[in-house]
Amino acid sequence: MTEPCTYVIFGATGNLSRVKLMPALYHLEAAGKLPAGTRILALGRRRWDREHCVEEVREWLKEKVRGSLDDAIFDRFARRVDYFQGDLKDPKMYTDLGRRLDDSSEFPPNIAYYMAISPSEFNGVVDRLGDARLFDEGPGWKRVVIEKPFGYDLESAQSLQRSIGRHLREDQIYRIDHYLGKGTVQNVLVFRFANTMMEPLWNRNYIDHIQITHSETLGVGSRAAFYDGTGAMRDMIQSHLLQLLTLVTMEPPVSMAAEDLRDEKVKVLKSVRPISPKAVHAHAFRAQYREGRIGNDRVAGYLQEENVPPDSVTETYAALKLYIDNWRWRDVPIYLRTGKRMARQQSLISICFRHPPQQFFRGTQVERIKQNWVLLGIQPCECLRMEMTVKEPGLEMRTRQTSLDASLRDEDGADTDAYEGLLLDVIDGDRSLFLRYDEVEQAWRVVDPILRSWSTNRDFIHTYQAGTWGPEESRRLFDTEEHHWRHSLDPD
Ligand code: BG6
Repeated sequence: MTEPCTYVIFGATGNLSRVKLMPALYHLEAAGKLPAGTRILALGRRRWDREHCVEEVREWLKEKVRGSLDDAIFDRFARRVDYFQGDLKDPKMYTDLGRRLDDSSEFPPNIAYYMAISPSEFNGVVDRLGDARLFDEGPGWKRVVIEKPFGYDLESAQSLQRSIGRHLREDQIYRIDHYLGKGTVQNVLVFRFANTMMEPLWNRNYIDHIQITHSETLGVGSRAAFYDGTGAMRDMIQSHLLQLLTLVTMEPPVSMAAEDLRDEKVKVLKSVRPISPKAVHAHAFRAQYREGRIGNDRVAGYLQEENVPPDSVTETYAALKLYIDNWRWRDVPIYLRTGKRMARQQSLISICFRHPPQQFFRGTQVERIKQNWVLLGIQPCECLRMEMTVKEPGLEMRTRQTSLDASLRDEDGADTDAYEGLLLDVIDGDRSLFLRYDEVEQAWRVVDPILRSWSTNRDFIHTYQAGTWGPEESRRLFDTEEHHWRHSLDPD
């Protein structure tokens, strides 16, 4: 049985803690997965005491838990929660915190520090924790969970790594990318490596191109202070989408052990063809939403959102074309795309296969046979679909598309959130679904030339109406006229 630990949550009164961490910990409590004695120390600047904190958490959970809040489970959960008030910038806060944590009758000495704070604060907080000797191990392990983005670009990621590396060993650092905790994302590995059927086809000989799309209907909401300095390329592509890309394209690992898996992911990222400054226009596209409609509601444009500077050219939509220069993938275009305020909330990996080498059915009703697609739905529908061409019944030679459909979970069936598994992995010391530093560094190397070029070209950005699939001009990324964005699981 896993030993108990203390989760110290920095930024516990913030958005991530409200929306993801506390609900995930509550669901783990409900499922009986939290080791007995595990405690949660919420740390924030607000002048709350324990009782106040528990009441706040109760309100957050009411909105976020699946089903309704169960009083008995909440009471059990609340007994684990405590509050510590302090200013992250104040070195004395860390010595006080150390004293509080020292009482092992209250707090288990295995400690996971969760950085649910702004990325610009990671460095300082880790430094002060280190200076106050709060990472000293024995008794108990000490681990740090760091949210994305790890750094702001290649250089800042390197400097953050150097700085936290002074206090922490790599095996104490858990760089989280919650996408890796999603069920279907892990299913990509199962689909590829537990079935012999696909592997022989999974290469440039049979695959025409790959698309990875994450679209959201939500806008930037109240997060402009973070988002305006970040943009879609850093927020989604550098992290989540490149991670999906590695799982879809990596070689079979030696084993599913954390280091073996991560070795293969790094190899893919290293093989991504670098984008030269001159090629940025052909490989990357950015845009920003203007006002429009989501369902029946009129929604504001990005520039009208709270805290967005009126002349901002931050992208809320980004698309990118990559090539992986290795034997398996050379010259297969891989299109990544993400956007806020788009037509639909969806994450989808679409693999398009090549045309058959000969068009056998010329001179019949079958003009041109459609390409096969394999679709891996990540959310909201968790599914796996293979599209094929079949003959329609009847005397004439007509064909239609049909699909072999493995629904893993339908739209409203979600019964765990990515954070639940990942929070448990931290307690268990399983780092396979967390990012190793070299992965993060390589991912920055992929997007850095684009970010640099965009930061110097600040006069113009394409716009798209909220509630649509983004500007038509993004088609300029396509290798051939025949390519088009695959928007959904429905037949093309
Ligand atoms: C976060 C991004 O990492 O992922 C958000 O910062 C984005 O901007 C979110 O909305 C998407 O995650 P999910 O799990 O809702 O698809």
